Amino acid sequence: MTVDGIQKVGVLGCGLMGGGIAQVAATAGYPTVVKEVADEFLKKGMAGIEKSLGRFVEKGALTAEQRSGTLGRLEGTTNFEDLAECDIVIEAITENLEVKRETFAKIDKIVKPSAIFASNTSSLVITEMMTATKRVDRFIGMHFFNPVPLMKLVEVVGTITTAREVLDQAMKFGSSLGKVPIRTSDRSGFIVNRLLVPYLLDAVRALEEGVGSVEDIDKGMKLGCGYPMGPFTLLDFVGLETTYYIANIMFEEFREKRFAPPPLLKRLVLAGHHGKKTGRGFYDHSDPANPKPLY
Ligand code: CAA
Repeated sequence: MTVDGIQKVGVLGCGLMGGGIAQVAATAGYPTVVKEVADEFLKKGMAGIEKSLGRFVEKGALTAEQRSGTLGRLEGTTNFEDLAECDIVIEAITENLEVKRETFAKIDKIVKPSAIFASNTSSLVITEMMTATKRVDRFIGMHFFNPVPLMKLVEVVGTITTAREVLDQAMKFGSSLGKVPIRTSDRSGFIVNRLLVPYLLDAVRALEEGVGSVEDIDKGMKLGCGYPMGPFTLLDFVGLETTYYIANIMFEEFREKRFAPPPLLKRLVLAGHHGKKTGRGFYDHSDPANPKPLY
């Protein structure tokens, strides 16, 4: 299923999030252009997409034909010009406001004026990116969740100038990707991180206060509440530096203690213990199939 008015999708960034978004767009049937800054990142991102598609084929969720169709609809590039004919461009580059503003200002001159621009930011202010462009009525947030191919949600974020029909179209587009879209407004963290981030930070505070160990707190939330991952497993999965960064942005926006990163989180980030990606966070991931709690 595709959506009227959206024939071609552009994605900026082919990391974990951008690659996942490009994958679901191409799987849904959209010709999709994904732009990276260098060939090596593109190669790595495409390998991730192929691996994920392979897992879907293995478990019978996709046929081999659907996989090759999906790959055939995906075009990797390092040129902004290749996004010119896209009807929607979703940005999933580094979480740096200045870099995002520069990028949006650049593509505003290249991509057709009727196209919708969307940012996948998890906490930066959409309005601040929007003002780098002239399409203030056609600018939204589309916040996907990690791992994008599996998580069903997308938050669709409207600003005070987003046109109603753009939001409606984005909601339909989200559904066409096989996701469940929810509407929210441009407040740092939107709906999910507004609730999730204080919970994750509180888990670190509980650990600091000796309420329980990493293993017991994780077991508590997994087995007592049915969460798929305990807070420390999730922190290691999302990345400690990512959570720390989001928390600081939310603290700056709301000035509320519940968004303030606890000292232990800051120390781990400073020490380079970012979680799964660095092999160490609240768990030691030397054996990825069997992470060992460290605290
Ligand atoms: N592509 C395709 N398949 C994948 C995949 C991917 N990227 N990742 C995992 N899978 C598959 C696995 O191969 C496995 O398949 P089988 O069932 O056939 O074995 C299946 O998915 C389940 O994976 P696992 O057995 O490894 O683990 P799991 O059962 O715990 O499920 C999970 C994994 C879906 C990630 C689940 O643990 C979960 O929902 N965790 C919570 C994730 C979460 O909260 N994400 C949001 C993070 S916050 C965020 O993203 C927002 C932000 O701004 C920070």
